[in-house]
Amino acid sequence: MARLGKRGRGLPAAVAGLAVALALAAACSSFDRSAFEPPRIEGAAFVGDQACQDCHPRITRAFPQSAHARLHPPGAGGRDHACESCHGPAEAHVASGGAGPDRHIVNPGRDPQACYQCHLEVSAEFHLPRHHPVTEEKMTCAACHDPHGLDIAKPAGGAMMARRNETCAGCHREQTRPFVFEHAAMREGCVSCHSPHGSINAKLLTVRDSNLCLRCHAQVPGPGAAGGFYIGRVDHSGLLRYGTCWTAGCHAAIHGSNTQPYYFY
Ligand code: HEC
Ligand code: HEC
Ligand code: HEC
Ligand code: HEC
Ligand code: HEC
Ligand code: HEC
Ligand code: HEC
Repeated sequence: MARLGKRGRGLPAAVAGLAVALALAAACSSFDRSAFEPPRIEGAAFVGDQACQDCHPRITRAFPQSAHARLHPPGAGGRDHACESCHGPAEAHVASGGAGPDRHIVNPGRDPQACYQCHLEVSAEFHLPRHHPVTEEKMTCAACHDPHGLDIAKPAGGAMMARRNETCAGCHREQTRPFVFEHAAMREGCVSCHSPHGSINAKLLTVRDSNLCLRCHAQVPGPGAAGGFYIGRVDHSGLLRYGTCWTAGCHAAIHGSNTQPYYFY
């Protein structure tokens, strides 16, 4: 029996030249099938998702809604084997009832490599100059996503937005507490201004300058012959040269304020 590390990366045999393709119901742009190799567990065969039901009911109940329910390592046989594409062939695990020091199964746990091998674009984002410290293993993908679909973030869609902000709230109290004057942009989700994985811009901003705000707040020509331009009801002609909307000494409390309706402080 090969020694099992807690992390897939620690598995010596995990990547030994296994030729793998994936049968998937849907294609994914950020997903490179040829790079994917499920963890290998010496001597163990694939047993299929059905086998997990009795002992892990909470996970298997939610799982069909997960995008990951469609994963299928070829060579695994005819039945559904999505669980085993991340956890490795589970024969020995099931036979032992989950007993033993390593439980004969792989728990990718804190290792983002287990996810990067399929999500190459996400890997690239976490290698940008500013990023959440996932590659450094100070936090995990599971801090924001549940790989089993219990609460996985959807890339688009209204109702998911509030929940997505909740994910951030666990660690960022200051930006997510209730404000007397709440910036309505927050309802569109943190991701309307921040790239959650990583960015080339400070503070993980999607855009580094005032165009971040002008996307939603149109600049309009001032009235009459005076010219200039207005944002909202205020003449901003001379203002933007002092910096960005939030660094020029104006909208510094951009997430919301308890005292100032224009989020100055
Ligand atoms: C006979 C019961 C049983 C079956 C069947 C079973 N497991 Fe487990 N499994 C356990 C027990 C017991 C544990 C340890 C306690 C826990 O984490 O729930 C465990 C733990 C795990 C862990 C965490 C291991 C760790 O070291 O952190 C994974 C991953 C896992 N099981 C995957 C699976 C998968 C995938 C299947 C189906 C192919 C499966 N199990 C089927 C009993 C079972
Ligand atoms: C996309 C990869 C992926 C798939 C597919 C997947 N898991 Fe997991 N699983 C993980 C990761 C990552 C963790 C560790 C999560 C953490 O540390 O919070 C984990 C943890 C676990 C655990 C131990 C922790 C816990 O929450 O109890 C069990 C048991 C488990 N998985 C069972 C399953 C079963 C059963 C399936 C299929 C129904 C499955 N997994 C499918 C990635 C996956
Ligand atoms: C075997 C390949 C594979 C692995 C390993 C894998 N994923 Fe995925 N993941 C996919 C595929 C395929 C999709 C579906 C893409 C689609 O439908 O557009 C997906 C979708 C997702 C989504 C988007 C969910 C949604 O509802 O749109 C998230 C988030 C995600 N994966 C996170 C993870 C995390 C975190 C891990 C590591 C624990 C991981 N993935 C490991 C293949 C994988
Ligand atoms: C700080 C929270 C956070 C962490 C950590 C995080 N994500 Fe995400 N992820 C998000 C949010 C929020 C979205 C939705 C983005 C959007 O709608 O623009 C997302 C979207 C995704 C998507 C679907 C859209 C896309 O970009 O392809 C995938 C796949 C994904 N994440 C994978 C991962 C993987 C893999 C990891 C770990 C290596 C990870 N995420 C870590 C917050 C996070
Ligand atoms: C309207 C755009 C916008 C939205 C929406 C937004 N932010 Fe920000 N955020 C900014 C700007 C601009 C900065 C840089 C100015 C600053 O430090 O306050 C920033 C800075 C931050 C910082 C760094 C603060 C520091 O002191 O370094 C965190 C953390 C943060 N935002 C979290 C969030 C979270 C969590 C959400 C969602 C609940 C969110 N933001 C929504 C624009 C936004
Ligand atoms: C598990 C805790 C955790 C969660 C959840 C989390 N963050 Fe963070 N966030 C951090 C840590 C830690 C840092 C500091 C990173 C550093 O300095 O390297 C950070 C930094 C940031 C920054 C500022 C980066 C800078 O350059 O100062 C922004 C913006 C941010 N997070 C937004 C978000 C958003 C949006 C979400 C939800 C999608 C989120 N975070 C979820 C822990 C978390
Ligand atoms: C996703 C869209 C969006 C983004 C991006 C956005 N805002 Fe807003 N903002 C709104 C909405 C919606 C309102 C409230 C409705 C309105 O305009 O009357 C609002 C209100 C405001 C107000 C209060 C003005 C008033 O008349 O009530 C200020 C000030 C403001 N935003 C500044 C900014 C700044 C500065 C940025 C860039 C850091 C920014 N906004 C980015 C959508 C956005």
